[in-house]
Formats: sequence, structure tokens, C-alpha cells
Amino acid sequence: MIKTEQLNENSYCVGKIDDRDVPFHRLILKKGTTYNSYLLKTNKPTVIDTVDMMFGKAYIDNLSELINLEDIKYIVINHTEPDHSGALGSLAMRAKDATIVCTEPAVYELKEMYRLQNRNFLVVKDGDKLDIGGKTLLFKITPYLHTKETMITYCIEDKTLFSCDIFSTHVAVKDYFNDTCGFDITEDFISYYNAIMKPHRSYVRIMLDSIKDLDIKMICPSHGFIIRKDVDKFIKIYDDLSQTKNNNKKVVIVYTTIRQNTKKIAEMFKDLISNNNIEVLLFNADKDSSDEIIKAIENSDCTLFGTSTRYGDMVGNMEVLLKLLQNKDLKGILAGAFGSFGWSGEGIELIQEYLNKTNMTVLNTSSIIKSTGMNDVEFPVRIRFSIGDEEADKIRRAAYYIVDLLLS
Ligand SMILES: Cc1cc2nc3c(=O)[nH]c(=O)nc-3n(C[C@H](O)[C@H](O)[C@H](O)COP(=O)(O)O)c2cc1C
Ligand SMILES: [Fe+2]
Ligand SMILES: [Fe+2]
Repeated sequence: MIKTEQLNENSYCVGKIDDRDVPFHRLILKKGTTYNSYLLKTNKPTVIDTVDMMFGKAYIDNLSELINLEDIKYIVINHTEPDHSGALGSLAMRAKDATIVCTEPAVYELKEMYRLQNRNFLVVKDGDKLDIGGKTLLFKITPYLHTKETMITYCIEDKTLFSCDIFSTHVAVKDYFNDTCGFDITEDFISYYNAIMKPHRSYVRIMLDSIKDLDIKMICPSHGFIIRKDVDKFIKIYDDLSQTKNNNKKVVIVYTTIRQNTKKIAEMFKDLISNNNIEVLLFNADKDSSDEIIKAIENSDCTLFGTSTRYGDMVGNMEVLLKLLQNKDLKGILAGAFGSFGWSGEGIELIQEYLNKTNMTVLNTSSIIKSTGMNDVEFPVRIRFSIGDEEADKIRRAAYYIVDLLLS
């Protein structure tokens, strides 16, 4: 069913209620969900997000009852994932002159997905405003909530936040409003946070900081309930859930090196990780005692192993150390490999192979993509020769990812 709700004088929610068991990111949404699109019928009529790809036709028909589609001036796409942008192709075809408003990384994705190469795009940055004739939209960039290109849109006059995936619930609601729906949505709101937002905890903190000065009277998310009662309480739930926990974490970094490049990576990891009140112990496997290193690893929450590569192999004492770990119980300890290399970097891959034979939880790019959708964190961390700007960024992203895992 496609449902329309009036939010205030000239704003509408045009939503599709999806009451199937919805397959999504390897979860089954047992309570279904909704896809909420919004129409602000101002002098420059604006649509904010659309609905899932499957429901494009019904959506277009429904929206046409509210407005002549050719009159639409702006289509704001907060997030390119097709459960929100899915009807953009059909809408853009009918709203011929509408400008598509999105972040810079979203442009390429939307052009490719919906064949919009010849369309007019307006790229917005954090804090940009857009006059839509009677109302003003303010854009806040919210990367990784839920994917890299995501932003949210605040209507200044209406004090309404169009928060896309953020502050959503996966429930096939019958009544959209949390104050009239007849039950407490808190449990569903928290379940959604845990399923979708939790892996991006540090980005939730950044988002909360970025919206803290906005006067928000209503939250219009893209899934589930519109929140117009206890708005502050629901924002506070994100604040509470995204606080760092368990500050007494221990990280061990152990490396071998010929010319110090791998040592410098190890030191950079140490600096970045210990900034967060996490205790970090750094060892050179060629100089420090293996017994001491192994004891520290057994007591750690995470251990990073680094080597450079010489003639297609690990260097120094690294292999001896990894062999000593093979019959230990290291369950629950996070492990990662890194190293400097010149052209092939076999040493780093060999560490990874040894780690995979232990019962540690070994960080690797594929499982990070599968669990978070983030494709800019790489493990093992392979650094060609010395650390330049790009390499420093790579190490930083990996370190922040580890800190996030340890503190959430
Ligand atoms: C004798 C020698 C052999 C090397 N063999 C390889 C190799 O097989 N594959 C590779 O990717 N890099 C190789 N390299 C490049 C080093 O891994 C690279 O210089 C790296 O930055 C050294 O890091 P380190 O300073 O931590 O030792 C070799 C370097 C030397 C000096
Ligand atoms: Fe999403
Ligand atoms: Fe979504």
C-alpha cells in the first residue's frame, strides 16, 4: 500500500508500507519496513528521497495525485541506496526539469544506477543551504550513516529533520506518527540502531555533534515512524548507545623490520590507538623476548603483527613467533597484519595465513565490507615503502576501525 500523510500545511509523506519479511543486508526484517519519501509543496516544489525500486510505479501514481510532476524543481537524494533512491529514474523522467541535489560522491552512483548522465545535479557540502521558495533546506553530511555518500536535510522553517536511515525503525507501520500509533516505539528504535547504525558508532558521534544546535521539532526518517513526540529522548538514545564503553582495553603491536619502515607503521598505529585511552604495548620481535611478547598477546584484546618483505618472505623472528602462537587459545582476540613492502609484499600475506590458522578473530577487507558496507578500510594493511599522505590515511582508517571495534 502507498500511503500519504500530511505533515503540516504543505509537506507530505508519501510512503510505501512493505509488510513482507523483507530481506536486507543479510537480515530478514520480520516486522517489514516502510520507505518514506517527502514532498514539500513550496514555490519550488521539492521531493526528499523516493521509495524502494520495487514500488516505483505506485509511488509515481501516488505522488501525481499531490502535484503535477513536471512542476518539481528539486529532488533531494540523501542516500543512494536503492531502498531510497529506487524510484529516482521514473521520477526524474517525469520531473523533467528537476535538479537532483546530493553530495559529491553520490553523483557518480546516481548517474550510473539511473542513467542520469545528462541531468542537472546540484552538489551540496556540509552546511550548504537551499532556498526552495518559502522554505530553506540545510544539508548536513553524515558519511557512513548509512553509506559513504549519505547526508541529511533539515528544513529550517518547519524545524523538521529529514534524517534518511538515521533515527529510522524497520516496522511496517500502519500509523506513521509515534504520538498516535498507540504503542512505545523505543524497542524497535533501539533494534534498528543495533542492526544498522552500531557498526558506524564513531560516525554517529560526529552526526550528533553536527545536529546539536538544530532546533528539531519533528524527525522524518526514511523507514518507519515519524517522530514528533519526545524528539530529544530519541536523539539521546543514539547518544547513549554510541558512547564508548570498556576503557581498559589492551592492544599489542609486534613487528620485524630491516630498514625501519615497518617500525614507523607500528609506531603510527601505537600513537593513533593509544589516543583513545587504550593501553598499547609495542614490541620488536627481534629484540624483545618471545615469552614476554606471547604473554602480552594472550592478555590483549587486539594484536597487530607487522613485517616487511625480503625475497618473498617475512623477516626476522616473526615466523618463529607466529609458530609459537599456533597451539594457544587466543579466542576473542582481534588480530590484524600490516607491513611495508616494495612490490609484492608476500610477508604480510604469510602473517595473515598464520593468523587464520589460530582461533583469533582476524581482520580482513572482505569481512569488513560484509559487516559494515565500508570499502575504504583495508586489512591486511599493506604500505608500499615509506609512509606518504595516502599511506598515512590508510593507517589512520585502519586504526580508527580497530578503536571503534574495541570501544563499542
Ligand atoms: C634484500 C631485499 C629484498 C626485498 N625483497 C622484496 C620482495 O620480495 N617483495 C617486496 O614486495 N619487497 C621486497 N623488498 C622491499 C622491502 O620490503 C621494502 O623496502 C620495505 O619498505 C622494507 O621495509 P622495512 O624498512 O620495514 O624493512 C626487498 C628489499 C630488500 C632490501
Ligand atoms: Fe541505507
Ligand atoms: Fe534504508
